[in-house]
Amino acid sequence: MQNMILVTGGAGFIGSNFILQRIQEQATSIVNLDKLTYAGNPHNLETVSSDSRYKFVQGDIGDRALMRQLLGTHHPCAIVHFAAESHVDRSIRGPEDFVRTNIDGTFALLEETRAYWSALSDEQRKSFRFVHVSTDEVYGSLGPDDPPFSESTPYAPNSPYAASKAASDHLVRAYHHTYGLPTLTTNCSNNYGRFQFPEKLIPLMILNARDGKALPVYGDGQNVRDWLYVEDHCAAIATVLRRGRLGDTYNIGGWNEKPNLEIVHMICDLVDEMAPRAGNSRRDLITFVKDRPGHDRRYAMDARKIERELGWRPKATFESGIRETVRWYLENEAWVRDVTSGSYRQWVATHYSG
Ligand code: NAD
Ligand code: TYD
Repeated sequence: MQNMILVTGGAGFIGSNFILQRIQEQATSIVNLDKLTYAGNPHNLETVSSDSRYKFVQGDIGDRALMRQLLGTHHPCAIVHFAAESHVDRSIRGPEDFVRTNIDGTFALLEETRAYWSALSDEQRKSFRFVHVSTDEVYGSLGPDDPPFSESTPYAPNSPYAASKAASDHLVRAYHHTYGLPTLTTNCSNNYGRFQFPEKLIPLMILNARDGKALPVYGDGQNVRDWLYVEDHCAAIATVLRRGRLGDTYNIGGWNEKPNLEIVHMICDLVDEMAPRAGNSRRDLITFVKDRPGHDRRYAMDARKIERELGWRPKATFESGIRETVRWYLENEAWVRDVTSGSYRQWVATHYSG
């Protein structure tokens, strides 16, 4: 039980960074339960695959018999719940998987966790933690002069993805309030870094720029996101797990609001610098395309609570993080080839056609 964490969705972008960071920094054992959807990639965890402190199990959080068996066998002292469908554009084209995993799956996980936790000794029950990893998108969209989202901003999700995450946040809240389950929720802004599936803005732009392909910017490119380096997000989750106040939510952000077009310009310039080619700048590849339906205009996080109460602040600057990220995608050709085959190609062909 001691120091055993059950991570869900640990083969995805943030989960795999979290596992690698925890294994490196702590005497922690981790069981990683992941369904391995198109977004899950066990290669991310190759460096720990033979470590006795790490175990991978393929499965669905909605499979209650499996969850019961895993909890009973491994006796975790904490669960960190990343597993989700996470891409807004996919949620617009096919919301059903989002309801199934993000809402029904989280519900199943909460029910099995409650049964497991209820049967623990008093001492174990007190120290147990359930960390639910969520997003700033549950708060909706900000106007240009609005203050950033705080923990008391009312929920107003706009996409099927955001709505499904909001529903899961409410379930987690209710399980604390009603049953006393020791939960913590984190709502974080947009992440970037290694292992992010190249359907999301930053890796998509890096790889298209590398290959001399069009860089599809939605609408006028002035939508604003608050970008956080994934290593900083993982450190924040670890801090909340260790010291967060039970039942509370913590907003996590990078204090780094930028319009999409500025991000794409920075990526073009870095790719030009690191993978020079004859002829024009990669900026010439920018193509404005039809906007995403219901596209939220601006997200920004007020992350003062986690700083004030738990002492967490991002370490990376956007300039250092994005440089490291562009370098990683350019240097890890085999990883890129692995994930950009099959269903990924089909997604790109369908989503960007016309
Ligand atoms: P991701 O899509 O890269 O990874 C999700 C992982 O969950 C994949 O490995 C997938 O195989 C797994 N999974 C999906 N359905 C599952 C199921 N039913 N059972 C078990 N495993 C399943 O996502 P990510 O970007 O790493 O995001 C992780 C979490 O962080 C999500 O909950 C997301 O909402 C949240 N979040 C993401 C961001 C971001 O910028 N990426 C920001 C804030 C919060
Ligand atoms: P994304 O990485 O999908 O994250 P989210 O929608 O969860 O914020 O998109 C980030 C921003 O980039 C968002 O405003 C949509 C925009 N975007 C594009 O302009 N072009 C693209 O091809 C993609 C994938 C996103």
